[in-house]
Amino acid sequence: MILVMGGAGYIGSHTVKHLIENGYEVVVADNLSMGHREAVTTPHFEIADLADKDSLDRVFKKYKIDSVIHFAAFIAVGESVENPAKYYRNNVIGTINLLDVMLANNVKNIVFSSTAAVFGNPEYTPIDEAHKTSPINPYGWTKLMIEKIFADYHTAYGLNYIALRYFNASGCSTDGTIGESHNPETHLIPLVLKAIKGDRENIKVFGTDYDTPDGTCIRDYIHVEDLALAHRLAIENISKFSGTINLGTSTGTSVKEIINIAEKITGRPCPTVFESRRAGDPAILCADNKKAGEILGWHPTHTMEDIIKTAWNWELNKKY
Ligand code: UFG
Repeated sequence: MILVMGGAGYIGSHTVKHLIENGYEVVVADNLSMGHREAVTTPHFEIADLADKDSLDRVFKKYKIDSVIHFAAFIAVGESVENPAKYYRNNVIGTINLLDVMLANNVKNIVFSSTAAVFGNPEYTPIDEAHKTSPINPYGWTKLMIEKIFADYHTAYGLNYIALRYFNASGCSTDGTIGESHNPETHLIPLVLKAIKGDRENIKVFGTDYDTPDGTCIRDYIHVEDLALAHRLAIENISKFSGTINLGTSTGTSVKEIINIAEKITGRPCPTVFESRRAGDPAILCADNKKAGEILGWHPTHTMEDIIKTAWNWELNKKY
């Protein structure tokens, strides 16, 4: 059985759904501080908290767990700057707690949610795994520290790990049953769609003077169902490889392009306001995804259009 920590969250819940559809038995553990009970599609659900090792140990004693996929983390970059203690305590110490309990129960396989934020301001693009890591906020540091802890545990304790560095996770399930629901929402695509729907006044474009063709930031948006597939492939390959893998499409899309595509797909205008740059945003973040292809056989299939269509469908028919 696979334990999915944080399986009630955005990427976790899509991964759980994908694993079940592919015949895996899954138990979700989540403290529901950010996640949604309705997003959990396995019957095996446990309330557990990374800060409470006993609650974790109970899960490992109740189920026969072979591998863990670990999503449980705080993810807001701005908040991590204002309240780093919350991020280091939950993300880093919480993961050490999880590793303690895993090793005590002789579970040695973990797939982990890492992030392109470990790179900081990129020196070249597309970004491969050999690119220097130099986070520019505490959130990125928590993820990089955990990657280092895994590497040391691999050497010392034989931990098998794959840290998946997501670029911009986006989109919702194709069948419309689960989707993205952050509170507060900070991500571009749901905010654009909320502005189009009329749930917010407008979308603020952060910066139009970047060194990009249209002056707005370029990101590599990757559909959450492609990410879910990568987690299954990581579980299936974990005894052969331990290390980090970038997950993106290798194609960049600018903020203005996102707004244009969203207007086309919804057939409605997006009220847009142009503002100055947001602190800490690099001009371009784009993944080199060759390693994911070579090691996992992972090749994303969803287009930018799929991302906006599924996100729009969710925005119109949200269940949570
Ligand atoms: N943006 C706007 N207006 C908004 C929100 C975003 O113009 O209201 C712009 C941002 O400036 C950026 C792009 O849209 O250029 C995407 O922004 P998001 O906030 O959606 O995503 P980020 O690229 O900032 O962050 C994502 C993840 C983080 C992760 C980071 C780096 O959400 O968890 O990628 O990997 F740290």
